[in-house]
Amino acid sequence: MSKAADYLIELDKDDFRTLQAIEVGMRTFEHVPVESIVEFSKLRHDRVLHNLDNLHRRDLISRWKRQFTGYQLTHHGYDVLAFRALSERDTIVAIGRELGKGKESDVFLAYDEKQKTLVAKIHRVGRPSFKRSKRLRGYVGQRGHINWLYKSRLSAERELTGLKIANKIKLKAPKVIDGNRHIVIMEFFEGTELVNYIDLKKPLKIFNGIISEVRKLFVKGGIIHADLSEYNVILTPKQEFLLIDFPQFEMADHVNGKELLFRDINNICKYFKRKFKIQSDPDLILETILDEYEKLNKK
Ligand SMILES: Nc1ncnc2c1ncn2[C@@H]1O[C@H](COP(=O)(O)OP(=O)(O)OP(=O)(O)O)[C@@H](O)[C@H]1O
Ligand SMILES: [Mg+2]
Repeated sequence: MSKAADYLIELDKDDFRTLQAIEVGMRTFEHVPVESIVEFSKLRHDRVLHNLDNLHRRDLISRWKRQFTGYQLTHHGYDVLAFRALSERDTIVAIGRELGKGKESDVFLAYDEKQKTLVAKIHRVGRPSFKRSKRLRGYVGQRGHINWLYKSRLSAERELTGLKIANKIKLKAPKVIDGNRHIVIMEFFEGTELVNYIDLKKPLKIFNGIISEVRKLFVKGGIIHADLSEYNVILTPKQEFLLIDFPQFEMADHVNGKELLFRDINNICKYFKRKFKIQSDPDLILETILDEYEKLNKK
């Protein structure tokens, strides 16, 4: 994928206009006809044909030939559009190595103009077997042909919103920097997922800390992470922790809010019990948090 980095340099303005015209066309067409690409791009017909060949050769668009010739963006093409927008407004100036592959994302290092290391999380939703993809189906409606594009963008927008709420209440979570289309740019933290730690210096302190953040997110932020587990907590080399991965968050007053909150709490309790022999009572923790939330919201 980090092909996108090279393409940012290799493509010219008209290539991008052509690529963007296809993106616009995809709102209406399953396969965007050449005439529409010409119309949307406001470029000359022969110029568009030349650009289409160029983009197709680089695997940024796919070609469809039946009654007419039409084009679609590929994942690479969509990546390039988003990265270009982010680099045009100087959010990032370079893309680095791959940090990790989640179930529904590719995560890369990125750098801003001051050489600060950031994270670029590229959302890739649309593989039908995954639950987040299923959950977003309702929002996508009839646009079956661009499911992946809409679902990935919605997922990124959702994560951006969740992170902003978390940032506002100063939760231990990465600061969100910017977002475009299906990409979220956030603060980078050295470290690895909690699940990779065999030993913790102060497991009880970390356990209590995580539960306290879950409480704060619910009571102060009014949301539930809803995908919390040992895989979505990062521990730095100094064993400071952060919660990551917010696209599945739900509002505290969601119909299943209580169940979702319990699941988050229970995942953490179970993990610390199994791995670090820490005893806790998830039901009691749940009740305490719900009580506090109610008291605060009655006033
Ligand atoms: N801000 C960050 N700083 C450092 N590493 C990060 C950061 N965000 C993500 N990562 C790394 O990338 C991996 C995947 O990110 P994340 O958990 O957000 O997405 P995901 O795993 O695709 O989502 P899901 O858990 O739903 O599959 C993380 O486990 C972590 O290793
Ligand atoms: Mg994750």
